Amino acid sequence: MTEWFESIKWDGEALVLLDQTRLPHEECWVRCATVDEVAGAISEMKVRGAPAIGLAAAAGMALAAKEAVRSGRELEAALEQACATLARTRPTAVNLFWALDRARETARSAPSAEEAVVRLSRLVDVLLEEQRESDRAIGDYGAALLPDGARVLTHCNTGALATGAYGTALGVVRRAHELGKLALVYVDESRPRLQGARLTAWELLRAGVPFRLVVDAAAASLIARGLVDAVIVGADRIAANGDVANKIGTLGLAVAARHFGVPFYVAAPLSTFDPGTPDGASIRIEERNAEEVLLVGQERVAPEGTVVLNPAFDVTPAELVTAIITDVGVVASPVKEHIDALLGELARR
Ligand code: MRU
Repeated sequence: MTEWFESIKWDGEALVLLDQTRLPHEECWVRCATVDEVAGAISEMKVRGAPAIGLAAAAGMALAAKEAVRSGRELEAALEQACATLARTRPTAVNLFWALDRARETARSAPSAEEAVVRLSRLVDVLLEEQRESDRAIGDYGAALLPDGARVLTHCNTGALATGAYGTALGVVRRAHELGKLALVYVDESRPRLQGARLTAWELLRAGVPFRLVVDAAAASLIARGLVDAVIVGADRIAANGDVANKIGTLGLAVAARHFGVPFYVAAPLSTFDPGTPDGASIRIEERNAEEVLLVGQERVAPEGTVVLNPAFDVTPAELVTAIITDVGVVASPVKEHIDALLGELARR
């Protein structure tokens, strides 16, 4: 599989991000040299998508450690503060908390503060490399599930921008295209932030993958008309019982897919599984600001006085998921027993 493009770079001194708020009109890079700058980039969605948020958080920890050693501050206290700052940015994607835990463990295992700085910097490179391997495996497992001439529907952005590597659900699409198995992708625009229209469309154009951009409300009707062979989405958190939190609108796709007998696949690395959260009801769903809904572009569309509810994610019950495509294999009918079996087998390897 060839490299698509890089959207996240780490040079040991700063995290350099392709600013996703400016795409597709401008390809503009932002340099985050402090933990506060990294936290700001995550909150403002300059970097977004569960795995990419995790990578950014790890870089934030590395930068905090560097600054602590430079200024003579006690490392543990500095890292706890950095952790708290980063953990406040976005609550739903578990990859953020997973990466913070890995950074904490890495720092704890170091014999000195100076060595912790070195190891944390290396951890960012390791996570980037691991993500590349994960995405590659997900692409292979997922493409094998699709029929020849597949017409796929996807939601939000789960590509290179969302992982810093090849992408999860969009990585499957890309792999199927490389194998000549893909006829067409329907891309939901993904209101209110329009990750589908702005980001997925941009990635697919660059890759030469044929697609049609559709409004979110068209998806169920395309499924009903027999135009979709599979729905493939990413995930922000998968609870122990297999319930899946993902971009708002995902649940409606799963319901429509089940009703019309179309497979509904979730593609996610193991870092998106959260065995500590028993079910979807326990997942904290981020509520974002009203402006995202009240405005389309710069234009205010709703009348003054309109009150908004803007949940950024929803939860799809495990029973509506045909299979979860992970980096270590496919979990069919992802109930708790099947997920436990996969994680158990992995632990034994
Ligand atoms: O709010 P976002 O854009 O960060 O939400 C992204 C999604 O919901 C993705 O589907 C998910 O993070 C998986 S990305 C590989």
